[in-house]
Amino acid sequence: MQPTVTSQPVATSPAASLAAPHAPPAPTSDSKSNPNSPAGAQTPKGPDWWLMMRAFLTQGKRIASFAPSSRFMARKILDGIDWAKAGSIVELGAGTGPITAEMVKKANPKTKLVVIELDPTLCGRLRDRFRDTPNVEVILGDATKFGELLVERGIPKVDHVLSGLPLPSFPAETRDAILATAARTVADGGTFRQLTVMPLIYYKMYRRYFEDVRFRFVPFNLPPGGVYVCRGFRDAPAK
Ligand SMILES: C[S@@+](CC[C@H](N)C(=O)[O-])C[C@H]1O[C@@H](n2cnc3c(N)ncnc32)[C@H](O)[C@@H]1O
Repeated sequence: MQPTVTSQPVATSPAASLAAPHAPPAPTSDSKSNPNSPAGAQTPKGPDWWLMMRAFLTQGKRIASFAPSSRFMARKILDGIDWAKAGSIVELGAGTGPITAEMVKKANPKTKLVVIELDPTLCGRLRDRFRDTPNVEVILGDATKFGELLVERGIPKVDHVLSGLPLPSFPAETRDAILATAARTVADGGTFRQLTVMPLIYYKMYRRYFEDVRFRFVPFNLPPGGVYVCRGFRDAPAK
């Protein structure tokens, strides 16, 4: 399956990107058009750590981490998923794809993996990396709209939602909307899983949204972090 590009407008300068915190940022100068994908795609040069570092230095809060997640973090966020039963999983804010890569190793080739990333350069890296993996669909788009993006693809429910999004720095209404969509979209027995590089600090915040929140510490990550595994969405909006 070919990766899909959404019709998101692309901001024309770093300043424009900063002015609109959830709009796609400008392409970077050492990126070129990816011949395998339509408009908006890029083929970035350099190692993953450099792409993340540069994105962090230019976009700050929207990226939230200066390095890609370690394989320990990737394994921890996936721990406990029943791969024999998982029909589809969505990953929000995939960066350069360390978690996606671990999912590809573990998932049944029939499990649909939908991966959403807002930054065109990081998305270009994801496309290059998973272009020969038919069960991965990489979407250049805004993960705050992931419910619509899934429905457009005929996927009303997923087994798990994995998030690398910097949720605590999102406006409360946006965070409420994302988590409400996750609650609506996750199939019975599924989970919402959120990575963090600020261990336990936001535990109370996730408890306001979910009945059951487990935190798993990941020391071997730069910086050390962890994963919240959440079940049982609470109806009350959490501000
Ligand atoms: C902390 S990084 C995590 C990257 C990757 N998952 C990892 O573990 O290395 C957060 C990622 O979320 C992406 N992001 C932020 N806001 C987004 C949005 N509204 N839609 C999609 N991706 C977003 C950033 O571009 C960045 O790649």
